[in-house]
Amino acid sequence: MYEILLRSHSGLRWIVLAVVLGAIFRAFTNMSSGKFTPLDDKLSLFSLIFCHIQLLLGLVLYFISPFVKAAMEAGMGAAMKETVLRFWLVEHIFGMVIGIALITIGRITAKKAASDKEKFKKIAVFFTIGLVFILATIPWPFREVLGRGWF
Ligand code: HEM
Repeated sequence: MYEILLRSHSGLRWIVLAVVLGAIFRAFTNMSSGKFTPLDDKLSLFSLIFCHIQLLLGLVLYFISPFVKAAMEAGMGAAMKETVLRFWLVEHIFGMVIGIALITIGRITAKKAASDKEKFKKIAVFFTIGLVFILATIPWPFREVLGRGWF
């Protein structure tokens, strides 16, 4: 169960990154002149859907992860002093929740925006900042000590 969820959560990152990047790319390239098309709406909708699936998988993982368990057993004070335990106990969840919240706000405010230009602007700003949080808290293979696989 843990392995299946972890592998799904890990692989799903690429779908999240692809749709969020697609939405950002279209927002920046069409902001000044383009029309907000059904494709743009789909890209922001699928960004939201995949981010929220990732959030759900992450929440379940949080309660069964041996790393989070070890961090809780060590106690908050001790865990915060240890790079790996601190990452799984607080950094990953906080960074991701903030990133996903920003993408959610971007989608909602874009939906309510009066003009196409405003819609692209909301997506460009909120999705880009959200993506920065997500990229910063992924345990990329090149990250010292914390690094995990590419998939
Ligand atoms: C867009 C959002 C997210 C992305 C891209 C993401 C990405 C990842 C990646 C790449 C891993 C490592 C998988 C591996 O070991 O191969 C991971 C693990 C994990 N993530 Fe996320 N994550 C996201 C959101 C969240 C959220 C919101 C939570 C918590 C609510 C969460 C909790 C966890 C946990 C507990 C682990 C497993 C730690 C372990 O036992 O090894 N993730 N995540």
